Amino acid sequence: MNIQQNISLLPYNTFHIAVASKYFAEIKTENDFSELLREEKFQSNQKLILGGGSNILFTKNFDGIVVKNSFTGISVVKEDENYVWVKASAGEVWHQFVLWCIEKNLAGLENLSLIPGQVGAAPMQNIGAYGVEVKDVFDKLEAIEIATGEKVNFKNAECEFGYRESVFKNKFKNQFLISSVTFRLNRIPKFNVNYGDIKMTLDEMRVNELSIKAVGDAVIKIRSSKLPDPNVLGNAGSFFKNPVITKEEFYLFISKNPIAPNYPIHQSPNSPIKQYKIPAGWLIEQCGWKGKMVGHTGSHKSQALVLVNYGGATGNEVYQLALEIQKSVLDKFGITISPEVNLV
Ligand code: FAD
Ligand code: EPU
Repeated sequence: MNIQQNISLLPYNTFHIAVASKYFAEIKTENDFSELLREEKFQSNQKLILGGGSNILFTKNFDGIVVKNSFTGISVVKEDENYVWVKASAGEVWHQFVLWCIEKNLAGLENLSLIPGQVGAAPMQNIGAYGVEVKDVFDKLEAIEIATGEKVNFKNAECEFGYRESVFKNKFKNQFLISSVTFRLNRIPKFNVNYGDIKMTLDEMRVNELSIKAVGDAVIKIRSSKLPDPNVLGNAGSFFKNPVITKEEFYLFISKNPIAPNYPIHQSPNSPIKQYKIPAGWLIEQCGWKGKMVGHTGSHKSQALVLVNYGGATGNEVYQLALEIQKSVLDKFGITISPEVNLV
């Protein structure tokens, strides 16, 4: 097993933060990982499993071993008249996998087009966009317990998926390497076009008949116009999660901020509203941060929720800005916003 020393993580994180890792190993197969588990340098150091590095902010050098997952492979494992079960290895690039599904006319992931990163990280925070979350088509995942090397399967309910949450971010944090994910995709699409600008964009694209590809293309078009491309401007997408507040907190908030966008949350379609989601981007913009540059970092000019690295920012610089933004939102609105990005 080739364990490299003192490796720059600059090419491995979309924030483009120049930090180094004491040790670094790339694993291409499960056998590589079994071998790595027996290495003293692995056993005696803290570990970080890395995918595409698109949801991570490195605030300092990593004093441990970074394990870059490069498992590849996509295969159909089961089918019936309604569904096709597709297994994708953790190191597959997420968007390429979504395109593979669209090309095969398999529905369910098209609204999640163009999200950066790898398949293995998708269940970590139950990635979501445009009215769909990974949990909606997730069947199961295979993981390897880092402490024992044992293989464990997690079914949908066992992952305890929530809004940008799963067991892997909470009670099982840093305990498993996700090796593959199996999705149950629909042969007969149930299009989800009610969210945001999808319908309008489909009209602009002059789409007369809905198709899986047309929805995917509309999502790609919207995302490309709103979100900065990490290859051009370092970022990790939404820095914070959208805060969820109780009905009582919401009444007080909306009486003071009647124009605030808000989304009622129903536990099930017919149940009463108990909570509301408030867009953190709006709260941050109202605090005057949108488009503001602070040193080498700042809040993006067309999406306040995205913090960016204008070049040469340190992770700590971005983190300090995040703390300032968090404080100003709390002071102005009495609402706490929490990071979505994993701080390392
Ligand atoms: P990484 O950043 O490498 O890792 C994220 C976390 O997962 C870390 O804790 C890491 O240790 C862990 N991890 C990664 N792989 C494994 C594995 N195989 N086993 C165990 N642990 C692992 N997210 C959304 O939900 N919706 C969006 O719309 C969205 N838009 C984005 C837009 C942009 C421009 C960017 C830059 C990011 C966006 N994101 C979005 C965030 C990000 O793309 C996702 O969270 C993505 O799933 C992260 O994948 P990754 O492979 O880059 O994970
Ligand atoms: N808004 C503002 N100012 C801003 C940004 C947004 O007022 O600068 C308002 C918008 O006008 C709109 C609302 O906030 O009314 C929501 O904005 P948008 O549709 O852009 O979505 P978001 O809530 O900011 C979320 C996800 C994104 C996901 C999009 C689309 C979170 C934290 N973010 O963003 O996910 O792509 O919806 O579904 O839930 C990510 O997780 O990294 C990510 C990019």
